[in-house]
Amino acid sequence: MPWYTDFFTELPNTFWRAAVPIESTTAEIDFLMKLPGDHVLDVACGSGRHALELAARGRRVTGVDVSAEAVAHATDAARERGLSAEFLVGDMRALPVTTADTAICMGNAFGYLDHDQTRAFLAGLDVGTLVLDYGFAAESFLPGVALEEEPLTIGGVTAEQINEYDVARSRWITHFTFTRGEEVHRGTSVQHVYTAAEVGRMVTEAGFGTIEMYADPDGAPYELRSARLILVARR
Ligand SMILES: C[S@@+](CC[C@H](N)C(=O)[O-])C[C@H]1O[C@@H](n2cnc3c(N)ncnc32)[C@H](O)[C@@H]1O
Repeated sequence: MPWYTDFFTELPNTFWRAAVPIESTTAEIDFLMKLPGDHVLDVACGSGRHALELAARGRRVTGVDVSAEAVAHATDAARERGLSAEFLVGDMRALPVTTADTAICMGNAFGYLDHDQTRAFLAGLDVGTLVLDYGFAAESFLPGVALEEEPLTIGGVTAEQINEYDVARSRWITHFTFTRGEEVHRGTSVQHVYTAAEVGRMVTEAGFGTIEMYADPDGAPYELRSARLILVARR
C-alpha cells in the first residue's frame, strides 16, 4: 500500500491543520477566486482549508481526500457553518467524475504519487483550469535543503523528522514521528521532486495549453529559490 493511504491520521492532520497561518490561506483563496468557473474540485482537500472558504464565497465545491479523518473533519465543519460543500473519501489516482470547471491541488500533494501515476492523474483531469501548489519543485526545494531538522510542535503535536534524499529518483523521504503526550504515530512520506519545467511538460502533455508559474498568490513570477511553485494551467 502506498505510504499516503495510512499516513494522514488524526495526529499528522492536527499538526497540518494548525501549521498554515490563516493569512496564507486567505491569500490563496483570494487568488483562487480570480479563476473562472463555478465548480471547483479540490484534490487532496485535507480538512477543507480551501474548500470551506471557497464554498463560503459562493463557489460550488467538491473536495476529495484519501484521509477519512480529514474528510470527516471537513464535513463536520461544513455542517457547522451551514456550507453546502461536498466532501468525499477518494484517491487522486481514481478521482470521481464531476462537472468541475477547475481543479486545485494545494499543499504539496502533487508530489506524492509516483511518476506514472502523476501523469495519469493529470491526464484524467477533465477541467478547463488546473492549479498546482507545489513546494517541492526543484528550484524551490533543493537550494535550501537540509537533512537535519529540529523537532517542531504545532497544534499540540510534535513532529520529529529523519530525512533522506534519493538522488537516483529525486525523492525526498521523511520518516516522521508525531507525538502528543502518550500518543505516537509513525509514518514515512515520499515527495517526488520535479523541476518547474518538468511539471510544465507533464501538464502540457496532459492536454493543457497555457501555463503560468507564480511564486505566491499575489502573482509574483516564479524564479530560482522562490518558496514554492503555484502553477496555473488552462486548456
Ligand atoms: C499536506 S495535506 C494538504 C491538504 C490541503 N490540500 C491543504 O492544503 O490544506 C495533504 C493531503 O493529501 C491527502 N492525500 C495524500 N495522498 C492522496 C491521494 N492519493 N488521494 C487523495 N488525497 C491524498 C492527504 O490525506 C492529506 O490530507
